[in-house]
Amino acid sequence: MPGIEEILAVAREVQARAYAPYSGFRVGAVLEAEDGTLHAGCNVENASLGLTLCAERGALVAAVAGGHRSFRRLVLLTDGEKAVPPCGACRAVLAEFSPDLPILSVAGEIRMEWTLGELLPLPFRLASPGRPEGGAGRP
Ligand code: THU
Repeated sequence: MPGIEEILAVAREVQARAYAPYSGFRVGAVLEAEDGTLHAGCNVENASLGLTLCAERGALVAAVAGGHRSFRRLVLLTDGEKAVPPCGACRAVLAEFSPDLPILSVAGEIRMEWTLGELLPLPFRLASPGRPEGGAGRP
């Protein structure tokens, strides 16, 4: 099981690859899957602004594409002096797979922790056999 320093090292690497020429706000996200593997994402902005991709969803897409659907924790890394929680869209997309995911957000010396259940207490969900906990609905 990777330790927090190992996860933060991965977060620093991916944060450095963020493409954020419009906001200047670089975000690194690392999802730890149930088997201890780490899946990283960074924000990728777009000139349209509205088509910008968040780091958390990038990490989630990488993890799911790698065959992982159940996660132990999410670690976020940003600059500045205020640790940020995932945006609303990322909360909803993360809740699809791990509705009570522990989240650690780090900015400099500041560390904030939440669970996804605290940040999004009533997610929209449909039962599906594709989910970790299974279900009777369509895939
Ligand atoms: N951003 C993320 O990557 N994750 C979030 O949860 C919130 C915002 C990015 C999007 C954009 O590139 C920049 O941060 C400023 O909003």
